[in-house]
Amino acid sequence: MASMAGVAAAVGNQLKRPARLQRSIAMADDAVISYVKAHEQENLTELFEFLRIPSVSAQPAKHGKDIERAASMLASMMRSAGVENVELVKTPGNAIVYGDWLHAGPNAPTVLLYGHYDVQPPEPLDLWTTPAFEPTLRDGRIYARGSTDDKGQVHAQIKAIEAHLKTTGKLPINVKFFYEGEEEVGSKNLDEAIEAHKQRLACDVVLISDTAQKGENDPAITYSLRGLIYFQVDVTGPNSDLHSGTWGGALANPNEALVQALAKVKDAKTGKVKIPGFYDNVKVTPAERAALKKSGMSEAALKKAMGITALWGEKGYTGSERTTLRPTFEINGIYGGYQGDGAKTVIPSHAHAKVSMRLVAGQDASKIQKNFVKFLKTQFLPGVDVKVTQLSQGYGAKVPLDHPAVQAAARALQQAYGKKPYYLAEGGSIPVVATFQKVLGVDTVLMGFGGHDENAHAPNEFFRVANYHRGTQAVARFFSEVAKERL
Ligand code: BES
Ligand code: MN
Ligand code: MN
Repeated sequence: MASMAGVAAAVGNQLKRPARLQRSIAMADDAVISYVKAHEQENLTELFEFLRIPSVSAQPAKHGKDIERAASMLASMMRSAGVENVELVKTPGNAIVYGDWLHAGPNAPTVLLYGHYDVQPPEPLDLWTTPAFEPTLRDGRIYARGSTDDKGQVHAQIKAIEAHLKTTGKLPINVKFFYEGEEEVGSKNLDEAIEAHKQRLACDVVLISDTAQKGENDPAITYSLRGLIYFQVDVTGPNSDLHSGTWGGALANPNEALVQALAKVKDAKTGKVKIPGFYDNVKVTPAERAALKKSGMSEAALKKAMGITALWGEKGYTGSERTTLRPTFEINGIYGGYQGDGAKTVIPSHAHAKVSMRLVAGQDASKIQKNFVKFLKTQFLPGVDVKVTQLSQGYGAKVPLDHPAVQAAARALQQAYGKKPYYLAEGGSIPVVATFQKVLGVDTVLMGFGGHDENAHAPNEFFRVANYHRGTQAVARFFSEVAKERL
């Protein structure tokens, strides 16, 4: 990981495009930003319309038509912004919305914009102050499912493009759009689509706005994301539930077999994951630790944000290291046996769990998946049958801080917010970043405008209006800044 001084030196050495071109880009910028500012109300109204579509990818039976409506609204917003060749690309699942504008010339960089128009389920509904799909403005915040993750940020990208095209009739860069509708359910069909459209997606760098800022008024560029592998574990014992008095004592209870096995995945004292090879290639460098000390959350802030009295996790690492730069194993759900009111003396026929691991860049998700299944299956008490099914797989990724497009994003954020950005390691996952590195050979600039406190995936999700507008400006400025670079 580059140190901050290293970054500055690298930027000084970058081969920039001609000074005359840089000046003409700078002159256009004022008009572009004025356009964004003049259209704030209009943009917000259109975003509200987009947010009203319940494009919940996890519930295809209920919301399949809404997914289609969201994709076609996205396509028509792109068309009216001036994007060309807009098309819904079919996949075995939800369509990808493609579009491009490629008239900036062969020396200008080509930027691929990625985002997602699907959203998480809104349940539990009764915890929302105002309904999830009736966007409401309250205290400078847009409350709606998908407002921060990711429709609001996708919309900011489109409005930034529109501002350039409507004021100057052109863009300083070539752009391609690639917006998917299955991100929140693991992007099952995405890797295949990227392989299939490899030529068409060729670019110099990707821009994703689907991450968080450091604080309400503190912009950030994310340089590290974790990957995710997710499993379902099904344990079957006797053919039927049994009377625990008549039969109890003679067999392994599936619930007990499951919790005992799961408890062996992590060392109870050190919090280390015991799957063989799990920590291969995992290291946190002194530079990363130092950077995180400055930009990461303190132990007190973590406790407060989560509403708990004590932290716990892998020994030897701080809380913010453990939530970003270290891999984890979690039991996301566990169920079996009697769950109703009162007592029922029963030994259940079966038990189940949902488990997942957050992985960091360098960890081999395929290898860990195999080792996990093998390891877990040997931990069970006798007499139960165990089935482990993988539900999703995604790799972690890191973005080099000295990449010229990252530096262009830093300048854009400085202009839009009047502050230098923080560089954040994120604990969440955007697995497509690793796929873009592997298949297209390009890095991604993660310039997002959300907040960790904006209730993504939870009731009362919101997006700060100010950051929606500043984000639009920052993206517009990014296009101008990155146009000055040779990528
Ligand atoms: N936008 C998030 C990723 C993210 C999470 C960025 C937290 C910044 C902070 C994305 O939509 C998401 O939810 N990703 C899933 C990935 C999964 C469904 C494969 C995640 O991290 O759980
Ligand atoms: Mn997202
Ligand atoms: Mn999400």
